[in-house]
Amino acid sequence: MPHYGTVITNLESRKILAMTFPLHASAPLQAVAANGALIPRLGLGTWQSTHDEGVRAVRAALDAGYRHIDTAARYENEQAVGQALAACGVPRNDVFITTKVWHTELRAADFRRAAEASVARLGIDHVDLLLVHWPNPEVPLEETIGALNDAQRRGLTRHIGVSNFPVALLDRAVALSPLPLVANQCEYHPYLDQTKMLAACSRHGMALISHSPLGSGKLLADPVIAEIARQHDKQRAQIILRWLIQQPGVAAIPKSSNPVRIGENLAVFDFELDAASMARISALARADGRVSKPAWHPEWDIADTLHTPSPAAQP
Ligand code: A2P
Repeated sequence: MPHYGTVITNLESRKILAMTFPLHASAPLQAVAANGALIPRLGLGTWQSTHDEGVRAVRAALDAGYRHIDTAARYENEQAVGQALAACGVPRNDVFITTKVWHTELRAADFRRAAEASVARLGIDHVDLLLVHWPNPEVPLEETIGALNDAQRRGLTRHIGVSNFPVALLDRAVALSPLPLVANQCEYHPYLDQTKMLAACSRHGMALISHSPLGSGKLLADPVIAEIARQHDKQRAQIILRWLIQQPGVAAIPKSSNPVRIGENLAVFDFELDAASMARISALARADGRVSKPAWHPEWDIADTLHTPSPAAQP
C-alpha cells in the first residue's frame, strides 16, 4: 500500500527526506509522500513570472529555502527557471522541479517532443514531476498516459502525474497507467470545495497539489481570513497556505514575484490552525469559487454556477 499524506516529522523520516532533499537548515522538512515521491509541501508557482522577473522570483525562492518550483511549457519561463536554478548554488538534486505538457501536445509523438523540449529548456537532464497540463477529449487518454509513462521510462522525469483532471477522468488515468501517478495538480483554496478530489487522491495514494492556492489573490480580501490572521498574528496568505498544507496529502504552489511575499509564503511551518479555525475556513467554500475557467476546461466535479470562460485564467 502506498503511504499517503505522511507528514515527515519523525527522526527516521527526516533522515530519509534529508537524503532526498537535504534542505537548507532553516527550510521546512515537510513533504507529502505519494506513491514513492516526496513532494515538498510548499513550492513556488511561476505562472506569469517570465523573463528576468521569472529568474528573479525563482532565485529569491531558492535563496529563501524553497526546494519545489512549478513551471510549464505554456508559461514560457522554463528557461528562466533553469537559469535561476543554475545560478543559485543549490545542488540540482535538492530541488523538486515540476513541468507540464500543454493540452495540444497530447498525441504520443507530440508529447515526446514537448517533454524533451521542456527538459532541454530547463537545462537539466530530467524533471522530478511531469504532468499532463489539462485533459484533451480529442486525444485518446490511453495514448497520452502511454506517452507519459514512456517519458518516465526514458528518464525524462522521476515521477508522473496529471493536472486539472476531474475525479472520473483521474480514475481512468490511474487505471490506464502502469507506472503510478503521484499527483493531480488542481485548483484548491478555501472558496473551492475539493472534498471529492481529496478522497479520490487519497484512494489512489496521490498528492493533491493546489494551484491558485490564494484564489489568484481573491482570498486575501476575505474578512474571515483577515480575522484569523489577526488572531494568529500572521499574514492572510500564511493563514490560507497553512489551511492547505495542514491537510493530509496536500501541497501548495503559491505564485509570487515579490521577494518579500515569496519569503512570507514559505513561513507557514511554525504555527498550527486549531480545528475550529480549520472548519471556519473550510466553510468559506462557495459555488462560484473557481477562478481558473479556461474555455477548454473539462466538466468539473461540482457545479460552477457562475461559469464564464476566460482564456486568461489557465494556470
Ligand atoms: P505578486 O506576484 O505580486 O506577489 P495564486 O497563487 O493563488 O494564483 O495567487 C497569486 C496572486 O497572489 C498574485 O497576484 C500574487 O502577486 C499574489 N500574492 C502571492 N503571495 C502573496 C502574499 N503573501 N500577499 C499578498 N499577495 C500575494
